[in-house]
Amino acid sequence: CGVVGYVGAGQAAPVLIDGLQRLEYRGYDSAGIAVVDNGRISSSKEVGRLVNLEQVLERNPVRGCCGIGHTRWATHGAPSQANSHPHFSSDGAVSVVHNGIIENYAELRDELLAQGHTFLSQTDTEVIPHLIEQFLRDGAESPEVAFRCALQKLRGAYALGVLFQTEPDTVYCARSGSPLIIGLGKDENFIASDVPAIINRISEAIYLNDGEMAALRADRVEVSTIDGQPVSPDIKPITFEAEAAEHSGFETFMLKEIHEQPRILRALLEKHVSSEGQVLLPDGLSSDYFRKLNRIMIVSCGTAYHAGMYGKLLMENLTGIAVETDLASEFRYRDPKIDPGTLVIAVSQSGETADTLASIRMAKDWGCRIFSICNVEGSSVVRESDAVFLTECGPEIGVASTKAYTAQQMAFALLTLSIASARGNLSPAELKVYLDDLRDVPDAVHYVIRQKELIQKIGEKHHDGPSSLYLGRRFNYPTALEGALKNKEISYQHAEGYAAGEMKHGPIALINESLPVVCICTQTADEVYEKMLSNIKEVEARNGRIIAVASEGDSELAKLSDDVIYVPAVRDEFSPMVNVAALQLLAYYAARARGTDIDKPRNLAKSVTVE
Ligand code: G6P
Repeated sequence: CGVVGYVGAGQAAPVLIDGLQRLEYRGYDSAGIAVVDNGRISSSKEVGRLVNLEQVLERNPVRGCCGIGHTRWATHGAPSQANSHPHFSSDGAVSVVHNGIIENYAELRDELLAQGHTFLSQTDTEVIPHLIEQFLRDGAESPEVAFRCALQKLRGAYALGVLFQTEPDTVYCARSGSPLIIGLGKDENFIASDVPAIINRISEAIYLNDGEMAALRADRVEVSTIDGQPVSPDIKPITFEAEAAEHSGFETFMLKEIHEQPRILRALLEKHVSSEGQVLLPDGLSSDYFRKLNRIMIVSCGTAYHAGMYGKLLMENLTGIAVETDLASEFRYRDPKIDPGTLVIAVSQSGETADTLASIRMAKDWGCRIFSICNVEGSSVVRESDAVFLTECGPEIGVASTKAYTAQQMAFALLTLSIASARGNLSPAELKVYLDDLRDVPDAVHYVIRQKELIQKIGEKHHDGPSSLYLGRRFNYPTALEGALKNKEISYQHAEGYAAGEMKHGPIALINESLPVVCICTQTADEVYEKMLSNIKEVEARNGRIIAVASEGDSELAKLSDDVIYVPAVRDEFSPMVNVAALQLLAYYAARARGTDIDKPRNLAKSVTVE
């Protein structure tokens, strides 16, 4: 979902629509805006793409210099005009947009129904304007007081934007558990759930904390806690350029982001490796701490979980520490028996994924230190961690994660080398060799991307089947899972990633001449290479269509395969960053051939702030 708000001298509607367009990538199924003018709130909302709303606004414009807007991704109640935001009080004088979930909405709704309120939607959000209205009816001395009283009754997560008919120069907002920023302009101010919504209009922002609210007017912003204490907020500069959130000549954001990977990986290496060959890590984690560490637990979701799987394999291999990884949504409900001696690593592109955040909070209660690998400065994960590795990819707009993934892998590689050398598992000379090998990765990824025309042909050739299988082993088992996930997300073709050694225990039954089997087999120096070759022969014997990702010069594999994508040979441990670039492009071109909406695949959201 996305929230935007504007107050200033200009017309609000075009600013709101532009902001919502910039948030489209987060995934949504309906959109709406409300604008207040001359003591009246006008609104418009439509199901489906934003363009539907724009068409309606062209016919029936809403005028006014103060407004709120929203793109909704259905949670409570199907996508429909009635369920779209903004929602209103019974008298139409209070309008609300909301990201998050109000957990006690059923109970509040019953109370409000008994007080004579009528509800038009099935959403949890609609209780909020009614609750505010009720406080006004009960004599609250101002809209602000009524809003504050309502917030005190809400349980759950919210980022809220609120308009009052009686205050046509003010946007109110509040945050608890869902991100919300206030963008500061000259004689105009903004709210947004995500910086890219307003990045072209601001250079400074306030990242609202949980439990804070604010009143925005064109010339000032007043922040306070929900219980009424004034807050003097931290004003932060916005560190990336508006251009980072533009297509820059690429047909999609995803293709642009795939191409950005070599540059991002190079920049991370430059920033985190000193001229003396030491790995420089963020403040908060010392060599002394690493020496004493006995266990690491990595938690994350989606693509970030695959990065975590890779991190586990690397770290347990090189640091001698027991490392476990889990999906945040599972970890939360386990009893993982971790204690304060365990370092918990959270991996998240957005820094707002609800399950990842909840896992962090749980681990903190157990006394663990939290290290996070995250792409969004100022995000909740970043703010709640003891130490942070920022992946610094700039905004990732394509819903299917690409550049954030390889940057997370690079973060794990650097972290692993740092821990291993702090603990004496790697001598300075060995560290140098590893770092030299790691420096090969950005060019190797670039080389893969330069082969996109060949990968496109392969993607187009195999896009038509109902399903495909991705096989890998050891360091490239997570690569197989990630390749399959990319395929599913953007081409809507069923795809399954499997540890190649497990194939015989099930997926082999699926193999026939129409099943594309993508085999990642680049580890010529690795002991699993031979095993992988045997697995590929098993696929060949059953006439599966083999697409191999192979190291350059591997002629053996070409004999077995229908198609081969050759990638430069890099150290086995670092090959997943190179191989996944080939799979990102393969999924990309399969999806393109299938004509899907690549940057905004159906049903998916960029950041999942609900549990
Ligand atoms: C969503 C996105 C995925 C992402 C996952 C975890 O499902 O569509 O691309 O991998 O959330 O998000 P995070 O922001 O925590 O990395």
